[in-house]
Formats: sequence, structure tokens, C-alpha cells
Amino acid sequence: MAVIAGNWKMHKNRQEALAFLQEFAPLVATSDQEIVLCAPFTALAVLAEKLIGTRIALGAQNVHWEAAGAYTGEISPPMLTDLGVRYVIVGHSERRQYFGETDERVNLRLKAAQRYGLTPILCVGETDEQRQQGLTEAHILAQLAQALVGVKISQVIIAYEPIWAIGTGNTCPPEEANRVIGLIRKEMSILPQVSSQSNENVRILYGGSVKPDNIDELMAMPEIDGVLVGTASLDPQAFARIVNYQKTR
Ligand code: PGA
Repeated sequence: MAVIAGNWKMHKNRQEALAFLQEFAPLVATSDQEIVLCAPFTALAVLAEKLIGTRIALGAQNVHWEAAGAYTGEISPPMLTDLGVRYVIVGHSERRQYFGETDERVNLRLKAAQRYGLTPILCVGETDEQRQQGLTEAHILAQLAQALVGVKISQVIIAYEPIWAIGTGNTCPPEEANRVIGLIRKEMSILPQVSSQSNENVRILYGGSVKPDNIDELMAMPEIDGVLVGTASLDPQAFARIVNYQKTR
């Protein structure tokens, strides 16, 4: 079963979220994929109610590491689980780039999410400049090495999202995404914080300009266990086509 996760980022009010769902849910009703909608905090409650009895799971886009406290503007793991949220994106490149997210905080968020039974989707990926300089692998492994300390590997999803491919329409060629994900899988297994755990089943997604017209090719790659979709997840028809990709393996 592939993980097909949508990241709505800062889009859709409650009404728009419900209108999306009304059109989207019937289109994926017979899907056997693990479908996740990561909506803004403000839309989670209304969506949760409508998702009962469907195969679509709810995700958030960030989470604090404490259960409660004087952290103005933050949302805690039990506040999310209280709404029926089951997944949470952690360390998205936009949070790293615009909101000062560090690997250390990513690690705190991952551990807190897991403590409360949320499945974190950990995002890693290189900038265009890092890629040009041949630093792709080293950068991603450094991100993983710091983020995964004390994290249960069997209960985390990793998303490889090359920053130059996000929101640009410039998708990473499927063979290259496959190569990097294969490498992450291999190199990760020898990190000391990972090698002590069984990590055969770690699921690694690709993200960055996934669209209806490239999903089939991406999902044909043996190392790609699913996708994290931004822009195309805002449109019910486009996202349904991605969920219902043509299986060739
Ligand atoms: P995109 O976003 O599909 O619009 O490139 C992906 C993401 O940021 O997760």
C-alpha cells in the first residue's frame, strides 16, 4: 500500500475544505492506498467529522513537542489526537526556510508526535545549490542523523523533497528520485541511531511537483513508497488521479 499524502499548506478555509472533500471522497472510495490529507489547523475539526467512515486519514502540518504549556501560538500532540489527527508533517523545507526550523527541533517534534501515537512524516531534501556542489547525499544524511535520534524508525515516514522541485513544476526525474531514496534507505540503515532497530519497513516518499501526469512514472520506481503532494493536492480531480495512479508494479 502506497502512502499518498496531500499538503495543503496555508490554503482552504472550512468551507473550501468541505467542498474539496465532497468532490474528492467519492473519487477515491475504492482506493486501497493510505490516503492522508494534511490540512491547516483551522480546517482539521470540520474535516475530522466528515472523514469518519472513509479511508482518508487526517494529518497536520506541524506540532509542538510539549503536551501543554506557555507556548503562545503552538499546537500540542494531544490537541491533534483529540481531533482525530493521525499524521503530522515535521521539518518541511518551508518551515526550515521561513520559520527557523532546526534539526534539533525537528527531532523534538518527531519524538513528541510518536509519544502520542501520531505518525510523523519527516521531510528532508537539498537545495539547488547543494545539488550543484555535489552535497545532496551528505546534506540529507546529516538531516536524518540529527532528526532520528531516539525516534522509532518503524513508526516514521520519510519524505525526500528536493527543495528545487517544490512548487516549481520542476519535478525530480523519477530515476533520480529513485536513486536518492534508495541511497537514503541504504545509508540510513547504518546510522547508529537506526542500525539498532529493525528498519526494513521504513517508508520513503517522494515530494516536489508531483502531478497527475508524472505520478504513474514516479510510482513505477521500486524505491518510491508514495508521494507528498502540495499544489496538486488542492484540486480534488488532480489529487484523486494521483491517488488512483496506474499501477505497473
Ligand atoms: P508541491 O509541494 O507539490 O507544490 O511541489 C510539495 C511539498 O511541499 O510537499
